[in-house]
Amino acid sequence: MRFLIFGPPGSGKGTQASKIAETYMISHIDFGTILRDHLQKNTKLGKEIAKYNIEKGNLIPDDLAIEILEDRLKEKDAKKFGFVLEGFPRTLAQGIAIDNFLKKSRLKLDAVININVDEDLLVKRLMSRRVCANCGESYNLLTNPPKQDDICDKCGGKLVTRDDDKEQVIRKRFRVFKAQTEPAINFFRKMENIIDIDGNRSVDEVFIQIKQKLDKMVK
Ligand code: AP5
Ligand code: MG
Repeated sequence: MRFLIFGPPGSGKGTQASKIAETYMISHIDFGTILRDHLQKNTKLGKEIAKYNIEKGNLIPDDLAIEILEDRLKEKDAKKFGFVLEGFPRTLAQGIAIDNFLKKSRLKLDAVININVDEDLLVKRLMSRRVCANCGESYNLLTNPPKQDDICDKCGGKLVTRDDDKEQVIRKRFRVFKAQTEPAINFFRKMENIIDIDGNRSVDEVFIQIKQKLDKMVK
């Protein structure tokens, strides 16, 4: 199975993609995390990505994003198990590129998920998000706090705030989403298999909506 998951920053793409990956036994590919890993490890690609200041809410250029994504989709797990892809495409050009890549590889998307959430709720959620610097597990001080302050329940790693989770940067990411990513969503909307989800509800309520709709589509 292959799914794309769209939504503004903080809409719960990562949260829901993890649950989808577990439920349907497919890979969760989080494009933003791939970029941050390259930056942290200071790889050759990381040095290139660093030029574009993603921590300030800027996108990396389409050519670079498409190259990184295509390499990731060619990996064994994505081919063998399928995937739920978060954070890509983020522009119309990226949308067209992945559509072409899948057609060339004779692969089809099973569904495109689009999560909608109000801007002020996104800001509130992201300002209270903490992530584990070691394993990447995500927490929320308001809705899903760790058992011990600043410590990951899973691995004992230190919990940190993402560099781009500052109010000004969150609002910029939201503007970038409206201007750049909505055209990509509209491109996929022309296909029948897009599902719109109300993401203003609790994590479990959102997942129930997604699962009910996906189950009908993948049967
Ligand atoms: P990326 O990492 O993808 O960030 P984003 O799209 O801004 O979205 P987030 O990952 O911050 O939010 P999310 O929707 O996954 O929400 P989450 O589940 O964590 O990208 C970062 C940057 O990289 C971009 O800004 C750009 O610069 C660059 N980049 C990435 N992809 C690119 C591309 N294709 N091309 C060019 N540049 C690119 O949830 C958020 C919080 O809310 C958590 O704390 C969670 O616990 C909580 N929460 C979630 N759901 C609920 C709920 N229903 N109720 C209550 N709390 C909830
Ligand atoms: Mg995410």
